[in-house]
Amino acid sequence: MRTQVGIIGAGPAGLLLAHLLQLRGIESVVLETRSREDIEATIRAGVLEQGTVDLLNESDVGERMRREGMRHEGVILRFGGENHRIRLSELTGGRAITVYAQHEVIRDLVKARLDRGGPILFEVKDVSVLDLDTKLPKIRFHDRDGAVQELACDYIAGCDGFHGVSRPTIPSRLRKEFTRVYPFGWFGILVEAPSATEELIYAYHERGFSLVSTRSPKIQRLYLQCDPNDVPDSWPDARIWEELHTRLAGSDGFRLAEGRIFQKGVIAMRSFVVEPMRHGRLFLAGDAAHIVPPTGAKGLNLAAADVRILAQALGEFYASGRKELLESYSETALRRVWRAEHFSWWMTSMLHHFHDESPFHHRLQLSQLRNVTESRAAATMLAENYVGLPFDKD
Ligand code: FAD
Ligand code: DHB
Repeated sequence: MRTQVGIIGAGPAGLLLAHLLQLRGIESVVLETRSREDIEATIRAGVLEQGTVDLLNESDVGERMRREGMRHEGVILRFGGENHRIRLSELTGGRAITVYAQHEVIRDLVKARLDRGGPILFEVKDVSVLDLDTKLPKIRFHDRDGAVQELACDYIAGCDGFHGVSRPTIPSRLRKEFTRVYPFGWFGILVEAPSATEELIYAYHERGFSLVSTRSPKIQRLYLQCDPNDVPDSWPDARIWEELHTRLAGSDGFRLAEGRIFQKGVIAMRSFVVEPMRHGRLFLAGDAAHIVPPTGAKGLNLAAADVRILAQALGEFYASGRKELLESYSETALRRVWRAEHFSWWMTSMLHHFHDESPFHHRLQLSQLRNVTESRAAATMLAENYVGLPFDKD
């Protein structure tokens, strides 16, 4: 088999890259270890930055998102038992976030790809990358029938997430990795209940962080800070509700509506970056190259920003033979990556309870939260980062 760009992984990064390349007339093949049903059902992110929304709209895959996604022009920080609103749109010249689940984005991208006749090979196994230092690198894999296949490519995009095979292909002496693991996780649930708030609530409490998000008027997405070693059974329903009510209690009488919990999961929290995001003809994008803790809602958005830059660079190469944008891909992408790394770390540090926290640290967190909600300059900094920096700044 032969293609122009071999793409490993059908997450948001791989699928969006394939789509953006197809719009430019560049051929690609997407390889994915899981089934279509599995990738379309995995519950993950929910917040799209303005730039991600614009990119999906401009590339003609935004139709359902425009109908079903929920645009939010503000976000709530809750502490001391009260809500404090950050006016996202007012502080950023009209930008906003859109709540639209990651698996819905995946469904839209898979459909767009298959409708246009673009190949996605699901349920492949034993994927490996060969001949990276040559002009014709290859991806070897077993197809879903167990036959060994080799895909020869001009370029390979490693979009296979944090645990994928692409990043380890880069010799360890040629890559530098930066990691921070947080001493807590998030327990996430989906619940059948009416929403208790019109905008997302990020809540700080001495017992730990919690987050009130949504999926539709009838389905809510809630998270609470937990022990990183917890498993779904650590959290019977009664314990979840008791903890959420305690962490969200306040003088304003706010109370979440309870309902049937139909999905539970624990999310690890880490920061990670590999530099550079390229080795020879292999380009890394999305979680394969970097991870952020979910507090800033940046992971999926960074994946979209990476592949936008990569599609442009490959587009320039195939149109004119010029390689400058391919050469600068890693440096360009890493500027946004490190901004998002800092923002996600900062939001996480401000909003979570650290087990070794002293009363001094707790007071500092409260002071920071007050400053962010009372100072227009500080609120603007949060708002600009949360809605996402415009792509023309890349
Ligand atoms: P992935 O989504 O991990 O996709 C990689 C794909 O590659 C997978 O389908 C995998 O099966 C496949 N694969 C792996 N290995 C191989 C292989 N060897 N061969 C072929 N295929 C392979 N981000 C946000 O922006 N906003 C949010 O609100 C947000 N909230 C989050 C909440 C939670 C609970 C979690 C877990 C994450 C959240 N994120 C959020 C992060 C976001 O989900 C990820 O950053 C995003 O999925 C990254 O996309 P990706 O395509 O790079 O990687
Ligand atoms: C959601 C996830 C996040 O990580 C976040 O910061 C906000 C919302 C969500 O899944 O809705």
